[in-house]
Amino acid sequence: MRTLLQEALEEDGYTVETASGGRAGIERVKQGGIDLVVSDVKMPDLDGLDMLREIKAVSPSPHVITITAFGSIDTAIRAVKLGAFDYITKPFDVDQLILSVQKALDERALRSELARLRDEVQRTYRWGNIIGRSGVMQEMFALIRRLSRSSASVLVTGASGTGKELVAKALHFNSPRRDRPFVAINCAAIPDTLLESELFGYKRGAFTDARSDRAGLFVEADGGTLFLDEIAELAPALQAKLLRVLQEGEIRPLGAARSQKIDVRVVAATNKDLEERLANGSFREDLFYRLNVIHIHLPALRDRAEDILPLAEHFLATSAGKAGKDIRAFHEAAKKVMLGYGWPGNVRELENVVERAVALTEGTLIRVDDLPALPGARVRAPESSGDGDAADPLAAAAARGLTLSELEREYIMCVLAAEGGNKTRAAQRLGLDRKTLYRKLEEYAASGTIRIPNEGEAK
Ligand SMILES: Nc1ncnc2c1ncn2[C@@H]1O[C@H](COP(=O)(O)OP(=O)(O)OP(=O)(O)O)[C@@H](O)[C@H]1O
Ligand SMILES: [Mg+2]
Repeated sequence: MRTLLQEALEEDGYTVETASGGRAGIERVKQGGIDLVVSDVKMPDLDGLDMLREIKAVSPSPHVITITAFGSIDTAIRAVKLGAFDYITKPFDVDQLILSVQKALDERALRSELARLRDEVQRTYRWGNIIGRSGVMQEMFALIRRLSRSSASVLVTGASGTGKELVAKALHFNSPRRDRPFVAINCAAIPDTLLESELFGYKRGAFTDARSDRAGLFVEADGGTLFLDEIAELAPALQAKLLRVLQEGEIRPLGAARSQKIDVRVVAATNKDLEERLANGSFREDLFYRLNVIHIHLPALRDRAEDILPLAEHFLATSAGKAGKDIRAFHEAAKKVMLGYGWPGNVRELENVVERAVALTEGTLIRVDDLPALPGARVRAPESSGDGDAADPLAAAAARGLTLSELEREYIMCVLAAEGGNKTRAAQRLGLDRKTLYRKLEEYAASGTIRIPNEGEAK
């Protein structure tokens, strides 16, 4: 039977190895490279179901087709329950078996292709809940991964809304500290006196209002990560205290007689230029070097435009899910508008814009009209094609999808019209020599899309 099946399968192009018993089969599977096992339940050395159980424990495990005796439907059911892909009852037709083999291998190929694609998508565009297709973000993913075992301080810089807090959390939740607390505090939001007791804690009676002991955030974050947001705003006295804590790895609450050891990883963030503050003396250099052991800088969103669409799609999926709306994608023109916009509020602004668009839209697509906050979107609306666009003509041009030469042509025609068709003055204003301007105008006229105004003719 074994030889017969081997020949039949090889004839159909499969590569077949045989084993004369269950034990030998399992050993072969463990060596790897087997996609499918066809086995009888009755074998001299081992029950086929036991073999199945052992094979399924191997990872990655091959598919298994079990051959059962006529009438033993119980065994067949048990085989499937144990993870067999299919079963065949004796007596059977070889073609029947070959069909099942084909099905099993097709399914397997499909599944591994899916896994590969999913892996690729994740590897390229997202890491945990951080989205990023650009080179800088890819490097950041790798950096966070490499830093996962370290407890070194990290300084995260970047403009508002670039994702500094998200990175701080990623550092924490991808480290062995993930089961301990992630504690965040905004140093700019709390008055200095309060911040001190907030961070380091106090003993009962340390000051008038201290009616009981308070642990402080460093203690709360023990074993975990403390995120110090807006670190540039930390007052000089607190900078000195923080430096001491970082250097000594211990804190002394206000009014306490003794210090206590703490194990906290500090991640600090700022959207300010710390180097500048070092220069003017408002931020301590020694503290800066303590915090800045590793520096992660998040560029503005407009400087990593490849991230715009993956981020927008991510926010679309989450917002639509939350709103219970079936919105699947962005219209091409809406994508252009988003790509052409400068995003001064960075990722947070993009998130808000998409959320609003999801609330506004009625259909299954986000259209330009659903993005009213973006300048390019206004250009599209016919009623405002006038002076409203002056705000950001380049973003508007990008939103309309103009090529560089189309933009050039529009600009030349605009200046020419403004000069009442006077080509000499237009050339002067454009910084072109007359000949070049003439040549360009001839090209435009030849392309048939533009009528060249004559000298003196009003616009
Ligand atoms: N790469 C990204 N992938 C997914 N979401 C992101 C990404 N970057 C930022 N976000 C989201 O954008 C929003 C703003 O991010 P975050 O709060 O981390 O910014 P920030 O740099 O701390 O801003 P601020 O300086 O204003 O505090 C959050 O909702 C965050 O989840
Ligand atoms: Mg923040």
